Amino acid sequence: MLTASKTAPRDLSESLPVLERDSRGVWHVRGYAEARAILQADVVQAGFKSESVAMMPKAMAKPVLFQDGKPHQEQRKQIARFFSPATIQGRYRPMMEKYVAETLAILQREGQADLNRLAARLAIGVASEVVGLTDSPTDGLTSRLESILHADLNVDRTPGGLVRFVGVQARMLDFWLRDVRPAIRSRQAQRREDVISHLLDNGYGGGEIIAECITYGAAGMVTTQEFICAASWHLLRQPELREEYVNGTDDERSRILYELLRLEPVVGHLYRRAVSDVTLTSGDQTVTIPAGALFDLDIVAINLDARTAGADAGEILPDRSLPKGVSGALMGFGFGPHRCAGEFIAIAETDLFLQQFLRLPGLRIVQEPEMGMNDTIKGYEFRNFIVAIDR
Ligand code: HEM
Repeated sequence: MLTASKTAPRDLSESLPVLERDSRGVWHVRGYAEARAILQADVVQAGFKSESVAMMPKAMAKPVLFQDGKPHQEQRKQIARFFSPATIQGRYRPMMEKYVAETLAILQREGQADLNRLAARLAIGVASEVVGLTDSPTDGLTSRLESILHADLNVDRTPGGLVRFVGVQARMLDFWLRDVRPAIRSRQAQRREDVISHLLDNGYGGGEIIAECITYGAAGMVTTQEFICAASWHLLRQPELREEYVNGTDDERSRILYELLRLEPVVGHLYRRAVSDVTLTSGDQTVTIPAGALFDLDIVAINLDARTAGADAGEILPDRSLPKGVSGALMGFGFGPHRCAGEFIAIAETDLFLQQFLRLPGLRIVQEPEMGMNDTIKGYEFRNFIVAIDR
C-alpha cells in the first residue's frame, strides 16, 4: 500500500471503473469528480460504524459526524472557533509544543520507541485538550480510548459477539467514569473554551457527550496518530524528501504533508446513503442512482484519479498543480458538509512533531512497521514501528 520511493510510481494501469455498481447494489466510486458530486448530494453518513449510532434513542442528539442538514450546519458553525487557524496559532500552539516535547522526551530517555505509541500519546493529548477531556492523566486516557477505538465493534448475537459486546461496554464504563464524567463535572462548575463546554451549553447529556468524545477519538485522534507514522515512514526512507522537509518554508512543508496524505489517506473509505435519487454525470454518461443506494468512496483510488491529480498521480510531487478548489490531499480530509473539522490542527501538530523528530541525531528505523487495518476508519494502522536515536 505504501509507495516505496519518490521515483517509484504506483502501477495505475489496473485502474477500475470510476463508478461501478456491484451485484449487491453498492455503488463503488473511484473518481474524484464523481465523489465530490456525491458528497454534496442529498446523502447521509453510512460509515464510521453508523449502525451503532442508529441505535441511539431518537431524542438524543447524534455526534457531529452523523448529523445532517441545518442542525449539522449550525453545529459546524458553532464549533468552528475551536478549529480556526487563529485559535491554533494563538491558543493551541504552546499546548502542542508541550505534547511534542513530552513525546520526544520519551524517545530521548529510552533511546528507542514504537513510533505508533509516541504518535498516539501526541494525537490523543492534543485532541483531548480541544475536546475538553483534561481531567484525567494523558497516559490512562490514551490507553482507555485506544482500547475502545481499536475494539471489534461488530457485535452480533453469537456467543463471541455477546462477549465482545460486554467487553466494549466495560471499556465504555471505565472511560465514562475516569475521563468523561470528571470532565463534565468540572465544566458544569466552570465552563472552558472546549467542545464539552459547548455541548453542555447546548443542553447535551452524558450519553450524548461520551458519543461525541468517541467520534472525536476516531475522526481526530486515530487519524492523526496514523498519519504521523505514515509521514515519518516516507520521510525517513527518502533522504532527499526529508532534506526538503526540514529545510523547507512553512508552505513547502505543508505541501509535502498534503501530498503524503493524498497518497496515504488514513480514512480509506467514506460511505454515504442516498436520501433521494442522485443524478451523476461521469464522463459522457449520466446515471440516476435511486434513493436508498449505498455509496462506497474508495479514497485511495480517488486520490490517484489522473483526471484530477495528473498522469503522475502515483508519485510524490509536492509541487504538483491541481485544479482550483481541489485540496492538496484531494479527498484525504473529505469534502462537502462533513469535511474534516480538525484539518489545520492535524497538519500543525504533525509539522511541529516532524520538525523536531527528523532533526534528532542518529534517528533511524530499527524495525519496519507491520501494517494492520482499522475497521472504524477503514484505514491503515502502523504496528511495531520501532525507531531509535543516538544518546
Ligand atoms: C491527519 C489527520 C486527519 C485526517 C486524515 C482526518 C480525516 C477526516 C475525514 C476524511 C473526515 C470526513 C468524514 C466524512 O466525510 O464522513 C473527517 C471529519 C472530521 N474530523 Fe478529521 N481527520 C484528521 C484529523 C482530525 C483532528 C485532529 C480533529 C479534531 C481534533 C478532527 C475532527 C474531525 C471532525 C469533528 C470531523 C467530523 C466533521 C463533520 O462531520 O462535520 N479530525 N476527518
